[in-house]
Order: sequence, then C-alpha cells, then structure tokens
Amino acid sequence: MTDLFEKLLKNRGPLGMHSKESYGYFMFPKLEGDISNKMIFRGKEKLIWSLNNYLGLANHPEVRKADTEAASHFGFAAPMGARMMSGNSTHHEKLEQDLASFESKQASILLNYGYQGMVSAIDCLVDRHDVIVYDSESHACIIDGVRLHMGKRFVYPHNDLANLEKQLSRAAKIVNETGGAILVITEGVFGMSGDQGKLKEIVELKKKFSFRLFVDDAHGFGTMGKTGAGAGEEQGVQDGIDIYFGTFAKSMALIGGFIASDDQVVDYLRHNMRSQIFAKSLPMPLVLGAQKRLDLLKTQPELKDKLWKIVRALQDGLKNAGFDIGKTQSPVTPVYLNGTIPEATNLIIDLRENYDIFCSMVVYPVVPKGIIILRLIPTAIHTLEDVSYTIESFRKIHVNLKAGKYQADKIVPV
Ligand SMILES: Cc1ncc(COP(=O)(O)O)c(C=O)c1O
Repeated sequence: MTDLFEKLLKNRGPLGMHSKESYGYFMFPKLEGDISNKMIFRGKEKLIWSLNNYLGLANHPEVRKADTEAASHFGFAAPMGARMMSGNSTHHEKLEQDLASFESKQASILLNYGYQGMVSAIDCLVDRHDVIVYDSESHACIIDGVRLHMGKRFVYPHNDLANLEKQLSRAAKIVNETGGAILVITEGVFGMSGDQGKLKEIVELKKKFSFRLFVDDAHGFGTMGKTGAGAGEEQGVQDGIDIYFGTFAKSMALIGGFIASDDQVVDYLRHNMRSQIFAKSLPMPLVLGAQKRLDLLKTQPELKDKLWKIVRALQDGLKNAGFDIGKTQSPVTPVYLNGTIPEATNLIIDLRENYDIFCSMVVYPVVPKGIIILRLIPTAIHTLEDVSYTIESFRKIHVNLKAGKYQADKIVPV
C-alpha cells in the first residue's frame, strides 16, 4: 500500500516534472496590461503571439463598455442556481436564439465552459449501445468525453478518410447488433496544426453510412466562413453538421460556450446534460458580454477581414522565408523546427529576452521527440510591422538553431 500523496509526489506527470525550472516562464507565465498585441512580461513589453483573441474583441471599446455596464447593473451572482431550477433569464434565451440563427440551426444551449460542456454533451448523447468514431488529434475535451462512454469507441488517424470508412464499417456492424447509433466527432479547425477537419468529405460519407456528426469548432467559430459561422460554413456543409460546438473563449474573448443543433436535440440536452443541470447558470455579465460580442461579430465583418490580412501576411511571409508551417488552413500558425527540448527552451529564452517576442512552444510529449513547434496566433490587432519584425527575428533564431547555438544538456532554470 502507498500513501496517495506520496505516490503523486513521486511521479509529478510530464508537465509537473518540469515545474521548478519552468514556473513563471515556460509554464504559468504572467502577461500583464491590457490584452493587446504588446503586453508586459516580467516587467518588459513583449510582442504577444499567444492569445486566441482572434478578432481583437478582448479590449474593443464597445465590449469593455458592455462588460462594465452588465457587471455594474447585475453583479456576478445573478442569476442564482442552475438554469433548470432558478438560473434562467430572458437574456440567456435571447443569446441562445441568436447563436442558433447565426449558426443556421434551429436552437442552441449555453455552456458554462467549453471543455466541461463538450465532455458532458458527449456523455449525454450516447449510451452503451452506441459507437463513437473520432479523430486521433481531437482536443482533450473530446477525448475525456469519449472516456466516459460505456460503449465501443473507434479512433481514426487524423483526417484519414480511408481509415474513417474502415472504422465506420466496424461501427455499423456493432450497432446493427446492439440497435444503437453512430456518432462521429471531429474538430472544425485543429488547434495545434491549424488544419481543418475534412467536414465536406465526412458529410459525404453519410450517403454510405448512417451516423450523426458532432463538430468542435472552437477555433473556427468567428474566424472561418463568409460570416464567421465557422468551418462548416467555410466548407459549404453547415447543414451536414448535426451538432455544432463553439466556445466563447477564443474569438469572443470571454468564458462559456454553446451547442447548436435541431430543436429536439437541444431540448434533449437541456433536460439531460449533467454539466448544465447540476451546475450554476452563466452569470449575467458573461451572457450580456457574449451577446455584445456576437452582435459585433455579425455587424463588423471588418474585424475578420483585418484578422485575415494579418494571417495572410504572416503565413505567406514565413513560407517565403523558408519556414515549414505545415498544413494550416486557418489563423493558427505553427512553425515546425527540429531540435531537442533544451534547445527549444534556449531558443524561446533568446526570442523573449533579446527579440521581445512571446509565443508558445510545443515539444515532446505533445509532438514526437526532436520536433519543436513555435505556435503563433495572429489577431486583428496585430500590425504588418509586427509581422515583418517577427519573420525577421525568426530568420535569425533559425540560423542560430541550425548552427547549434542553443544546444544544452538540460533545461536551464530561468
Ligand atoms: C478544440 C477545443 N475545444 C474545446 C476547448 C475548450 O474550450 P473552453 O476554453 O471554453 O473550455 C478548447 C479550448 O482550449 C479547444 O481548443
């Protein structure tokens, strides 16, 4: 027998094992000042490429005004209780109607947090007779929702349609016996690589197999498609998405999320989804704040145009400078480099301290050993000067990396 706490301390996990040397720099850094393209990190201004504030709404004057007025009028307590018991309001219902019509769906249901809502929705939609088929690069909230599933689940390699077909055949055999149904889950835009789920092709497979499609469009909502309705709109298959998920945590720069679908499905979720039935309703300032952001998203298309101007300049510029940015088809911009983890940390230190550029890095175990991803998130508030300065700086650090200047035996505490 072991003491639980002793066991936890012995194996602190893949991230926790670096906690001492990483705290405050690589992990849990503190970005201070107004949310913008330039913010303060450890007392000094940095150019920030890490925030999913795609449309620049976080600090939009109309958003700040709406947030302030809602907080002052309602406070953060109202409404009290879960939606079903005592926490409903006309504002919640209006936002749900507006989100549904923005997504060309009959109805929608608000979620307190995207992650928790996604987990709970998956849990709510399927029972042990059903089969889930999902993409291997799915976000943790999909993986964790699938973990709760008591029936069979089949994973297909990222965006591999031939394999998806194979998994659908396996799933079809099982549900023919159990009398269950098939749920396919993928993302609209994959948050690490920036490529889109192959929604068009997946929807096409409905002609061959009977299944419902659930799309997590956290990164596509507000950024993709003509109106910003997301990856389904972008690929012309919004109708083929049976259940659409969006979060407020990215384009909307807030907290919360929603699921949009048919009337009866949303009604089912409302009466069965444990994360919403057994948890307090979204506070009024978040609901009114989301309403304001959605209104701006609909009425100020220039925000998305600005975002894409920066995306194009950044992605074209990086490619022209010889960088590998993978298969991105969205604002998410990964820059793939080769190196060890100590090299990656020294490179990031150089970038932050000497070039005043702050971006996120992704290394093993998230990606295979030897690969370093510098992940850039362009937004509507970045400038073309930010872009050219960053590309020029990246050129220099890449030369250093290739010359072995960042080599080290271990991660140096900062
Ligand atoms: C693909 C995806 N799904 C879901 C979530 C969770 O959203 P939230 O931050 O609203 O919990 C995120 C955010 O990190 C995400 O990237």
